[in-house]
Amino acid sequence: MTNPLDLLTEQHQHGLRELDRLDAALSRVQTSGNLAAELATIRQAVTFLDTEVRQHNQIEEDHLFPVLEATAPGGPIGVMLDEHRELWAALDALQNSLRKLAARSTDEAARDLLLREGLHICDLLRNHIAKEENILFPSARECLTPSQLERISWAMEGEASEEYKRRDT
Ligand SMILES: [Fe+2]
Repeated sequence: MTNPLDLLTEQHQHGLRELDRLDAALSRVQTSGNLAAELATIRQAVTFLDTEVRQHNQIEEDHLFPVLEATAPGGPIGVMLDEHRELWAALDALQNSLRKLAARSTDEAARDLLLREGLHICDLLRNHIAKEENILFPSARECLTPSQLERISWAMEGEASEEYKRRDT
């Protein structure tokens, strides 16, 4: 069995590459002022965050965080959950600004919000992933039992087959 923590780490690496793409697109908008040229890349990143990162975070919240919290109550899990919530609030704001820009592409306030929230997401999620990789996952590797690891694997396979079914229809 592949260690599900390795799969979650692979997803972190994938996430960081997507954030680099989003960050680069937002920086180009800042320097060129040409938002229209970057909208497809920005929308792609939003879809990635809304689907794959959302699933990833749910697996962590359902199957990883409770075990770690039980092992070390009052540890960093509360902060991790707060950061997940902060990410979804920022993504909501970003999606809102995209909707406003779709209705009126010259909406300056929506454009400013899009840049601010987009860059905030890049910053937040990079730091969050670094904390998980440097603090959380090493302690998870120490304390998770084989049956707890197996449960995470099942959950991830379940999500993957659900996703497969959705794509198939
Ligand atoms: Fe994560």
